[in-house]
Amino acid sequence: MRLAIVGATGAVGHELLSVLEQSSLNFSELQLYASPRSAGSTLSFRGQEITVQVTPDGAIPADVILASAGGSVSKALAPAWVAGGALVIDNSSAFRYDDDVPLVCPEVNGEAALRHHGIIANPNCTTLIEVLVLAPLHRVYGIKRAIISTYQSASGAGARGMEELETQTHMVLHGKVAEASAFAHPIPFNLIPHIDVFQPNGYTKEEMKVVWETRKIIGDPNLVISCTAVRVPVLRSHSEAITLELERPATPEAARELLRHAPGVEVRDDPSANLYPMPLTASGKYDVEVGRIRASLVFEGGLELFVSGDQLLKGAALNAVQIAEYLQERGALKLGVGQV
Ligand code: A2P
Repeated sequence: MRLAIVGATGAVGHELLSVLEQSSLNFSELQLYASPRSAGSTLSFRGQEITVQVTPDGAIPADVILASAGGSVSKALAPAWVAGGALVIDNSSAFRYDDDVPLVCPEVNGEAALRHHGIIANPNCTTLIEVLVLAPLHRVYGIKRAIISTYQSASGAGARGMEELETQTHMVLHGKVAEASAFAHPIPFNLIPHIDVFQPNGYTKEEMKVVWETRKIIGDPNLVISCTAVRVPVLRSHSEAITLELERPATPEAARELLRHAPGVEVRDDPSANLYPMPLTASGKYDVEVGRIRASLVFEGGLELFVSGDQLLKGAALNAVQIAEYLQERGALKLGVGQV
């Protein structure tokens, strides 16, 4: 199986390489692509230096392409990659809402990946982190309404966002003025309730992604859900406060027990020991942390909870690799179709 990464030099590309190092995914060749800026540089993988190539305008000689170079690159080039015979697992939002493109979180709706037509979309990072927790609760208790508030790290804006947080924090601490570039406003010592572009309904696109994508992955187009997405000066890992109104009442104890058995989830919930989800403990971890599980004071029989998950891992790179693993384990990766 010939594997390619487009966007290999970015924040998610970096994580893809490290997840692939540990992965059981079986491949014979790894090709790395980025923009002309990075052409000729090398990245190391399992002790070997691999040269980064310029992303070509047309087909790529690979069986599976993990794309993480942004929506415009995917939109422009993925059709040619598919025409060349490759399966594209796309990390951008370019195809997520197309009816014939599965949007897949393997722990929740892995079987949807089997019905692809050349492109599988990797969901939005904030959605992936909550859907691992919401899907099992929905199955047992039926979510009537979900209200989500997010605390999203700088890593959501890629390597540029992380660098801006670090350099500007240093600048501000030394009395210098920070000019925002990756974000709409300076990020050090601030909160920015604005991620992606505003929509006609007053929500941001990031907030609507959570609504649209949670419904598509869970397979319930009527799920009532709303989100307020906020960028916070945290380097890595997104957190979310979630309020749930349920069809059937849940106790925190029963919810905790259910989530202990949910794949991809770690229950971290012992307030007496100051144990709860945090970006610092979630970073670098494959599982998403859930805790602060308590009975809702607003919705009788409902729940309040808090999740933290590594946006670059489960929220992006890890999920993409897990989709490829899911297909390979089921013998569903068609190889050698790409004749380029
Ligand atoms: P490069 O590093 O050469 O600019 P991030 O999300 O961290 O900003 O990373 C974006 C990734 O997408 C990088 O690997 C970047 O490569 C790559 N990229 C950006 N623009 C293009 C493009 N037009 N064609 C191919 N790759 C691109």
